[in-house]
Amino acid sequence: MEAEIKQIVESVKLSIAKAKDLASLTEVVVKSTGRKSRLTEILRSISELNPDERRQVGFLANEAKVEIERLAGEKQTELEIKRAESMHRDVTLPGIKPAVGHLSPITIVMRELIKVLAELGFEIAEGPEAELELYNFDLLNIPAEHPARDEWDTFWLKQGSDSRHNVLLRTHTSPVQIRYMLDNKPPIRIISPGRTFRYEAEDATHAAVFSQMEGLMVDKNLSVANLKAVITYFVKRVLGDEKIVRFRPSFFPFTEPSFEVDVWFNGKWLELMGCGMVSPQVLRNVGIDPKIYSGFAFGVGIERLTMLKYNISDIRLFLNGDPRFANQF
Ligand code: PHE
Repeated sequence: MEAEIKQIVESVKLSIAKAKDLASLTEVVVKSTGRKSRLTEILRSISELNPDERRQVGFLANEAKVEIERLAGEKQTELEIKRAESMHRDVTLPGIKPAVGHLSPITIVMRELIKVLAELGFEIAEGPEAELELYNFDLLNIPAEHPARDEWDTFWLKQGSDSRHNVLLRTHTSPVQIRYMLDNKPPIRIISPGRTFRYEAEDATHAAVFSQMEGLMVDKNLSVANLKAVITYFVKRVLGDEKIVRFRPSFFPFTEPSFEVDVWFNGKWLELMGCGMVSPQVLRNVGIDPKIYSGFAFGVGIERLTMLKYNISDIRLFLNGDPRFANQF
């Protein structure tokens, strides 16, 4: 039996040396020391031997097992190193940085506007992009036959029985004013950034999908002076303190009086946003008494402002999804 054990060790030694990969090495180990191996069989049967033999054979068999495991361990390390080398991997090389995206300049400017107005106490209110005709037009004092509707032609999504059921892609963020005033009592101070849509022939300065940020403040004793102060302050904060801002009389059905805000830029007045004092009719439409409260509202076109700020020449660049565009900002 002793000779047999020695012979087993010798032949396993050879098999281990010959193993070409980790799988064949495992196979050798299992075959030589596993449950069904001759070595295990010998170890199990030593109880049948006389005490002297038992000690001797038990010792040798255990020693054989330890020896086989040691050799197998050495071989395993050798094979693993070989495998790592064959993959030609230099683990000391610096890693490859995965490409990450970049904020759209629209988002960057939007966040800047939000930050400035949040400092002035304005909170964000949001509304749906698919809006009811009632909120986008009627309650903003733009009834079905009003000529202002031609200016804001849009994409109709659902034809219902009346303006409470007709659904369209909102043409401006002003319907959020209506939604908020229907649900909240003054004092109100909100901004509403978001996507807006118009049925538009696209060119370098017109896009059918664009972004606006609405502002609305309703309280007692608000006047045009407050409107001018807030708008002038935030335009200067965003575009630079040296910028000259002009308020030019204009018309919107939902504000009275109404203005366009222009900024002096490269020798020209550039139109930035519409604004005005919230029309008493709009306040009545949402259940706010215009004898007690007044308010002002503004709507900034974000693309226009961003193009100004970063000197971008074509509005269509914002939507083309090319990272080479966004990565510049
Ligand atoms: N909603 C108007 C537009 O899209 C802008 C505006 C907002 C004007 C609020 C006055 C007050 O052109």
